[in-house]
Amino acid sequence: MQLDDLYRQVIMDHYQHPRNQGILAGDALQVDLRNPSCGDEITLQLQVEDGIVKDVRFHGAGCSISMASASMMTEAIKGKPVAEAMKIAKEFHAMLRGEPEEKEEDDLGDLESLHGVSKFPARIKCAALAWEALEKAVRSRGVEE
Ligand code: FES
Repeated sequence: MQLDDLYRQVIMDHYQHPRNQGILAGDALQVDLRNPSCGDEITLQLQVEDGIVKDVRFHGAGCSISMASASMMTEAIKGKPVAEAMKIAKEFHAMLRGEPEEKEEDDLGDLESLHGVSKFPARIKCAALAWEALEKAVRSRGVEE
């Protein structure tokens, strides 16, 4: 199997079976973000306790890339310190810009499947949408990093 096919399968799996999709009950940080170029939207909710992302949910209407990226993001950051979540976000943005990984151990797991998006500038915004929501949530409430 070609790597591209494998990556496509990973993306479709997250799109068809999104992880952490839904709504968090109780008090949660919430950010609604819209991709101005297409009108697609995402709502991201974070429950942060003692600087740790205890829980995270998303819902929205978007293309397969945006929804798969959101699903992968929730898996990547759940249970992690906010500072580490921000570091993953930074590495993910660098990957979307086509920059090489800084260190070999910077393995982004399923997120690596979105590497090919870097070749399609129009889709970069799709893949970045959920991450921008994450960064906005962290910045807006001054959640400690
Ligand atoms: Fe709208 Fe991808 S086309 S987020």
